[in-house]
Amino acid sequence: MTKQVKSRQRVADHGEVFTADREVNAMLDLVKQETERVDSRFLEPACGDGNFLAEILRRKLVAAKRRAIPPRKKKPLPLEFEKQSVIAVASIYGVDLMMDNVLACRERLYNIWNEEYEAVCKKEVNEDCREAVRFILSRNIVCGNALSLKEVDENGNDTEEPIVFSEWSFVMGTRMQRKDYRFDKLLAGEYEASTNAKKKKKKSVEVEYQQMSLMPMLEDKPSDEGEFLTSYVADYRRIQDYGK
Ligand SMILES: C[S@@+](CC[C@H](N)C(=O)[O-])C[C@H]1O[C@@H](n2cnc3c(N)ncnc32)[C@H](O)[C@@H]1O
Repeated sequence: MTKQVKSRQRVADHGEVFTADREVNAMLDLVKQETERVDSRFLEPACGDGNFLAEILRRKLVAAKRRAIPPRKKKPLPLEFEKQSVIAVASIYGVDLMMDNVLACRERLYNIWNEEYEAVCKKEVNEDCREAVRFILSRNIVCGNALSLKEVDENGNDTEEPIVFSEWSFVMGTRMQRKDYRFDKLLAGEYEASTNAKKKKKKSVEVEYQQMSLMPMLEDKPSDEGEFLTSYVADYRRIQDYGK
């Protein structure tokens, strides 16, 4: 059972009360199918140290293992599991105001991934892939203010920098593409789309839970040039070598 409160001060300052495992599971079960899809995207705007995101990752990794099993076989292929598990990690996003929570969340997700990675891939584990996953987590779990949509400094105060999220996708074999988008523009686009449902057919899966929606995030193509910032393509094990 995870501790739900770290200190009274943090509860008073930031409303920091962590959700217990039982509630996490019950809430995720409301969108069970999506939590069990390797590539469905989840964003938690006040992720804390990742109670929801950790469970989502665990579920996705079970699905990744299943997907990596060839027909008429019982065991997942290590390389295929590696790719599937990278997709699983790369589809999980979080924002939190407090850096200690952000760091704890990244570490927690990394450890969940790495434990499964070692269990499945054994001697075939690869240091570059580990670095790639750390890098993806450093971009996906952001220290920011989910209300102002700005990054925050070490004191939790807004900076001028907008929150930017990356969309990760395999484009060919082992090539992975990273496309960066401003979060505020993504949300503005989503708002427009939701007020005019016919405007565009959505391709990304949308999932909601908790008080705020897990934002439907990224579409296959930038819907508006203004929100799309930049894009990189590299082998998925070397994605950390491109951009910061
Ligand atoms: C109630 S806790 C929930 C943590 C986690 N979602 C859970 O259920 O265990 C709220 C978290 O939101 C963060 N927080 C509060 N205001 C925020 C804001 N404006 N933007 C991002 N995070 C915020 C706090 O730092 C805290 O970690």
